[in-house]
Amino acid sequence: SHPLTIAIDGPAAAGKGTLAKRVAAHYGLPYLDTGLLYRAVGKLAAEAGGDLDDAEAMAVFAARLDTSHLDDGTLRGHEAGQLASRVAVHPPVRDALTAFQRSFATGAAGAVLDGRDIGTVICPQARVKIFVTASAEVRARRRTDELRAKGRDVDYARILAEVKERDARDAGRSVAPLKPAADAHLLDTSELGIEAAFRAACEVIDRSLANPNDD
Ligand code: C5P
Repeated sequence: SHPLTIAIDGPAAAGKGTLAKRVAAHYGLPYLDTGLLYRAVGKLAAEAGGDLDDAEAMAVFAARLDTSHLDDGTLRGHEAGQLASRVAVHPPVRDALTAFQRSFATGAAGAVLDGRDIGTVICPQARVKIFVTASAEVRARRRTDELRAKGRDVDYARILAEVKERDARDAGRSVAPLKPAADAHLLDTSELGIEAAFRAACEVIDRSLANPNDD
């Protein structure tokens, strides 16, 4: 039988990462946070003083990336996310990261990947696709609380503006824009806690596994 590949996409701070990790553990599947790849490219480029708007220069950093770059704890930070979304607009950067993501996705064990274009570009054949959303306000509130819990003195209005800016850049780019695949299940977490979102995702997955030919 085909390996179980689960694509989890959605905008910044919608709770994809937490959800994807839980789903992977629950189904015993390896997990790849594809945002980390773009974050690592952005950070390598910024450290080297590269021009983030130069597609070919950024693709060189993407080609040089290896998994040891992904261990860096600062990649999860807010700044690395902003850098990531700037380098992610360049098609040569995306191309350089495609093979690694596809080989991870098609491994014999199956996999869970989260990102922006997993269901649309990286794994259009994924068995299950979930598109996680939440209002920009809810996402900015969660991100603000998360940063404050880490002791950062952040302003909600500024975080909201940045969330909206990142949404616009991710959804507006010409290549692999953020959008749900036609066959994705939409999961709006605006009113759901982590536990409820996890249960809703498992229902979708279990239903797809039980009825492989349904939607
Ligand atoms: O998911 P995360 O917030 O870590 O992603 C950081 C940025 O990387 C996103 O805002 C997006 O621009 C880019 N990204 C992407 N495609 C992916 C994953 C992330 O373009 N599959």
